[in-house]
Amino acid sequence: MAPIEPDPALVDAVRSAQRVVVFSGAGMSAESGVPTFRDALTGLWERFDPMELATPEAWARDPALVWAWYEWRAALVRRVRPNAGHVALADWARATDLTVVTQNVDDLHERAGSTVAAHLHGSLFAPRCSACARPAELDDVRFAGPGHEPAERITPPACVACGAPVRPGTVWFGEDLPAESWRVAVGAAENCDLMVVVGTSGVVYPAAELPVRAVRAGATVVEINPDPTDLTAAVTHSWRATAARALPALAAAAGSGR
Ligand code: OAD
Repeated sequence: MAPIEPDPALVDAVRSAQRVVVFSGAGMSAESGVPTFRDALTGLWERFDPMELATPEAWARDPALVWAWYEWRAALVRRVRPNAGHVALADWARATDLTVVTQNVDDLHERAGSTVAAHLHGSLFAPRCSACARPAELDDVRFAGPGHEPAERITPPACVACGAPVRPGTVWFGEDLPAESWRVAVGAAENCDLMVVVGTSGVVYPAAELPVRAVRAGATVVEINPDPTDLTAAVTHSWRATAARALPALAAAAGSGR
């Protein structure tokens, strides 16, 4: 595929940026093979709406269904690899003060070599007790072992301290964001001079406030997304491109591309 070029105003913004924040959403991992929340699921999970499984109500109603869904997602993430966009961000961070704030619960930024300052919606790989909040040390094989068969219901493991069911370490609809992650994310958004908003539909709050906070604080905000979103009208530049194509081009413009 032919390389793509950012427009000249964007190249200037990237070259002059001292503090960069990348705010990523599910589209960041789409080219790795992780479906976004708006993609229809196939196979075992096609009858379920992710928005309805990621709730405290779903957990209260049917913990084994919710746990099985998260095990399936974790196994899927374990099978895929970071894409060229994740790699470009890790390279860019070696040359610039660059902070990654993500809504993603996968670990693809980290596996590409980035440090993630804030996982606003938690992680697939940090389950904890639903009662006493003790982190659960689950054998990683559980998520991706050879022969791991997808199942529609898997009883969640019991907490070794109190016996209550272990729950996924993700933030569900209606739950508060982890306070420290949110504090770090707001601080970064309000103190950057360039924010790259990549692969998010910008409909889930409060995370979607971050680009608006950055614009208000005077930053240049560029959206990378093949489609327009709820944030498009608010940002400085909107680049209709995918993460795996646009981010290497931006990192190269910043002088840190491979
Ligand atoms: P969404 O699934 O809402 O949106 C994904 C966005 O990625 C869409 O705007 C797509 O157009 C865009 N997209 C698709 N492929 C892309 C690509 N290759 N490169 C760049 N962009 C691409 O995902 P989020 O905005 O992350 O919350 O969703 C926000 C939150 O809602 C999630 O963190 C999750 C979800 O329900 C919780 O789990 C609490």
